[in-house]
Amino acid sequence: MQDKLQQIKTEALLALKSVKDKIQLEELEIKLLGRKGGQLTELLKGLKDLSEDAKREVGQLANEIKKDIESALAKKKTEFVQQEMAGLLEKENLDITQPSLPPKVLGHLHPNTIIQNDLEDLFTSMGFMVLDGPELESEYYNFSALNIPADHPARDMQDTFYIKGHSDWVMRTHTSPMQVRAMQKYGTPLRMIVPGKCFRNEATDVRHEHTFYQLEGVVVDKDISFAHMKGVLESVFKHIFGPETKIRLRPKFYPFVEPGVNGEVTCYLCKGKGCRLCKQTGWLEVFGAGMIHPNVLKEGDIDPNIYQGFAFGFGLTRLAMLKYGIEDIRLLESGNMKFLEQF
Ligand code: DAH
Repeated sequence: MQDKLQQIKTEALLALKSVKDKIQLEELEIKLLGRKGGQLTELLKGLKDLSEDAKREVGQLANEIKKDIESALAKKKTEFVQQEMAGLLEKENLDITQPSLPPKVLGHLHPNTIIQNDLEDLFTSMGFMVLDGPELESEYYNFSALNIPADHPARDMQDTFYIKGHSDWVMRTHTSPMQVRAMQKYGTPLRMIVPGKCFRNEATDVRHEHTFYQLEGVVVDKDISFAHMKGVLESVFKHIFGPETKIRLRPKFYPFVEPGVNGEVTCYLCKGKGCRLCKQTGWLEVFGAGMIHPNVLKEGDIDPNIYQGFAFGFGLTRLAMLKYGIEDIRLLESGNMKFLEQF
């Protein structure tokens, strides 16, 4: 039996020399060590018929030979794998030292945030501070402090979400409530903007959404005039839509300003000639503004005989839609990755 074992080993090593690929190697492995019919396996089945002493002696030799054969096979296998890799590298010109490509989707900013950051930079460069305000607001700051009394029809202009069990709380319908909060907290002179989320109980469609972003601005100081207001707003919209942009102010009623205006900018798409975007008018309606009403200054503990100011508000969401040509407002809050990855 010992002779037979040695013979298997010699033949195995010889056969291994003529093996040309991984498939032949596998065949040889099965022929020698296969559980059923492997030469070595079959031979070792005879061990059980030997005496205890012989069993120990032959068993030890058999183990050594099995190990030798296994390691010779493994060595050959490694050779083949290395050859294969070298071939691949050559054929595909694969440079395994090249740094990996970045993942396809890295996080990035939401279109609303891009516009908001851009405007925060612009306004801070003009000396405005950037404030944040509560989204759950009191009825007082959202309406009464802004010269909109309880029975005033202006409250109907904004479809308000009230809070169950708290009739004096609302989800803020605009960023304007921060006007009086800022006056009370910081006094004069005041230059501030408030970008933020607002909420209205809208029947949603391509132009209406229950959640959207506005940006409010307030300037209060001595000798502030309508011309200052126009100057600031012109700079802002030239910055957003390009240096050739003009603005147009037309009277509009807002309870918290007097006089109040509806602000338009020349359509950036047709440069004022008239197109589908501006409904052939050449103008896009983008903001509301005006000189702060004396009642509002008074609510903010500011004496309207000494100080004046202007305020403005516009939809950040609307600006993002105009700037990026987004036709359905609902996409912005949808969390739809196919949409968001475009920015
Ligand atoms: N709060 C108004 C709205 O949501 C926008 C607005 C108009 C803000 C005129 C102002 C303003 O500060 O002066 O429709």
